[in-house]
Amino acid sequence: NYYAVLMAGGVGSRFWPVSKQSYPKQFHDMLGTGETLIQKTFSRLEKLIPAENIYILTNELYEDLVKEQLPKVEGRQIVLEPSMNNTAPCILLSSLKIQKENPDALMIVAPSDHWIEDEFAFIENVQASFDACQSDRELLMTLGIQPSFPHTGYGYIQYEEQDKTPIKKVIKFTEKPDYSTAKTFLTEGNYVWNAGIFIWSAKAILLAFETHLPDMYSLFSAGRKDYNTKSEKIFIEKNYAKSKNISIDYGIMEKSEKVSVLPAKFDWNDLGSWGSLYDKLEKDQNDNVVVNAKSYIENSSGNIVRTTKGKTVVLKDLNEYIVVENEEVLLICPKKDEQEIKILRNSVKEKF
Ligand code: GDD
Ligand code: MG
Repeated sequence: NYYAVLMAGGVGSRFWPVSKQSYPKQFHDMLGTGETLIQKTFSRLEKLIPAENIYILTNELYEDLVKEQLPKVEGRQIVLEPSMNNTAPCILLSSLKIQKENPDALMIVAPSDHWIEDEFAFIENVQASFDACQSDRELLMTLGIQPSFPHTGYGYIQYEEQDKTPIKKVIKFTEKPDYSTAKTFLTEGNYVWNAGIFIWSAKAILLAFETHLPDMYSLFSAGRKDYNTKSEKIFIEKNYAKSKNISIDYGIMEKSEKVSVLPAKFDWNDLGSWGSLYDKLEKDQNDNVVVNAKSYIENSSGNIVRTTKGKTVVLKDLNEYIVVENEEVLLICPKKDEQEIKILRNSVKEKF
C-alpha cells in the first residue's frame, strides 16, 4: 500500500532562461547525466514504490513532456492542473484520489527537481518513515537536512532536543524565515531544513486538511465520486482554479501539531539556483563548470557556462559569472546576483 505523488508543476524561474515556463527545469537534464530531473526522481522512487502507484501532478502545459519523458506512466497516473495554485491543492487532490483507491494507503510526496545521490540511504529513510506512519496513522513525517548557512528559501524545522530516537517530534515548522531569524535558528542548533519531501498516511494528511484548510478540503472533497473515473477531468477543470493558492508548508506544516522529522542520511541539494548546480557539477582546473559546450577559457574562474547546442564558448578575464542560453535568450549575470534572475526574467517583456 505504498504510493507516491511527484510534484512537477513548478516553473523553476531562477534557472531562466534554460528553465522557462514552457519547459521547466524538472524536464531538463540539468546535471548532464543523460536523464532529466523528473526521470531521475521517478527511478529513485521506483526502488520502493510500484511504478503503477506513482502519480505525477503537473500543470496541463506539461502533459506532453511528462508522457514523453516517463513513457511507463499511464494516463490515469497523470493529473493535469488547469492553474498554478502552489503545492497544497495538488497534494489534497492526489491524497483524495489515492485514499479512494486504497483507504490504507501510505504515501510519499516529493518534488521532481532535487539532487539526491545516495539512493540507498534515501530509500532507507523513506522506509523508516513509512514504518512510523504505519503505526501512527496521524503522523506527518518530514525529512530534515543539516543546515549549513542561513538560507531564506527553505522551511526550518525545530525539533525536540531531548528526543534521542531517530525520528524526532517537531516543536515548530517555520517556512522561509527572514535572514536574521534564520541566523538565530542556526545558532540555536536544534533546527534542520525541510527537504520538501513528506511521508504520511492518506488518512493523516486528509485529516490535517480538514482541520487547517477546511474550505479547500470541502472544495476538493466534493469531487470524491468523480475521482479515478471518467468524470474526474471535468471536475478538476471546473473547480481547481477556485482553490486558494498556498503551499503545503504555509497551509499545513506550520500549523499541524502532528509533525515529526527524520534527519536525513543522504546528501541533498534542491538545485534551486545556478550556484547550487555549480556546486554539484565537475569543475575544470580553474573551477569553471562547462555544460554542453566546447570552451576556450583564459584567465577566468568560478564560472558556470551552458549552451543549448554545444556551441564553443570563449571567455577571457571573467570570474564568478553565469553564462547560459536557450534558443532565444543569452543571460550573463554575476553568480552572486543569482537570486535576481527571477526578477530579471519578469522584466523582460517577451515571455521566453
Ligand atoms: N503539481 C504542482 N503544482 N507542483 C508544483 C506546484 C503546483 O502548482 N508548485 C510547485 N510545484 C512543485 C515544484 O515543481 C517543486 O518540485 C515542488 O513542488 C516544490 O515547490 P517549490 O516552489 O520549489 O518550493 P520551494 O522550493 O519554494 O519550497 C519547498 O521546498 C524547500 C526545499 O527545496 C518547501 O517545502 C520548503 O519548506 C523546503 O525547504
Ligand atoms: Mg524548490
